[in-house]
Amino acid sequence: MATVSNRKLAVVTGASSGIGYALAEQCVKNGFDVMICADSERLETARQRLETSGAQVYAVLEDLSTPEGVERLYQRIVDTGRHVDALLLNAGVGLGGAFLDTPLDRELRMIALNCGHTVHLAKRVLSDMVAMHSGRVLITGSIAGTAPTPFQAIYGATKAFVYSFGEALREELEGTGVTVTTLEDAQRGSGDAASQVAEDGFQAMLAGKASVFAGSFANGVKGALPEVVSEYAHETKPGASKR
Ligand SMILES: NC(=O)c1ccc[n+]([C@@H]2O[C@H](COP(=O)([O-])OP(=O)(O)OC[C@H]3O[C@@H](n4cnc5c(N)ncnc54)[C@H](OP(=O)(O)O)[C@@H]3O)[C@@H](O)[C@H]2O)c1
Repeated sequence: MATVSNRKLAVVTGASSGIGYALAEQCVKNGFDVMICADSERLETARQRLETSGAQVYAVLEDLSTPEGVERLYQRIVDTGRHVDALLLNAGVGLGGAFLDTPLDRELRMIALNCGHTVHLAKRVLSDMVAMHSGRVLITGSIAGTAPTPFQAIYGATKAFVYSFGEALREELEGTGVTVTTLEDAQRGSGDAASQVAEDGFQAMLAGKASVFAGSFANGVKGALPEVVSEYAHETKPGASKR
């Protein structure tokens, strides 16, 4: 049985790097313990860095593109005996290139991760949140989900899926004490950009907002969304991955 803590607990998927790591940082800075999940050795470094905050950090190494990996993560949550106060469904990958050229196996894995783990973990955790009349959910979408994205056709479609899913869930859960927020990020890169996106997303989640266009770049261009999305998609080189 894990040590009992009075702090709230947040679960962050894809927290070994980028936006997910920055979201986990926001969680610990704001008094949460965190369960972080990813599928590479980078997770251990993330765990060590987050633990310097004094928070309890549970690191779960799983491949969330498989239902078995998601179930094992959920079991780790159950094993803590703790209520999940915040669920941040962030793990995701991208793939650029002409649809006729891109490898089907990678696209199917991307769909399984970007869409599958989001639905699967939400299905498991949301019942517990609703039973407690309390919870915050943040789903990392993308500006690429707001309009068709040629040369990132499947990636854009996965992000349209999670946006639609998040909005629908939000409506269904109205009045339950559980809110769902979608993070629409148009930033690229990591470091400061990821930190700003994460801070905007985290604050919107705590406030229970529907969605947030995070980061100064996104805020500056959201009025011209279709052009930006089109340019973003065309710039993506075939084979480009993590987005
Ligand atoms: N960066 C952008 O420009 C951008 C823009 C819009 C939206 N987004 C979205 O933001 C989210 C995070 O992306 P990022 O840019 O921060 O990329 P990133 O740094 O590559 O982070 C992706 C995270 O997902 C994890 N992950 C990948 N495959 C996994 C798997 N099979 N099982 C478990 N975890 C897995 C990675 O961990 P390991 O590799 O250690 O497994 C990593 O922690 C994604 O949903 C992405 O679509 C990013």
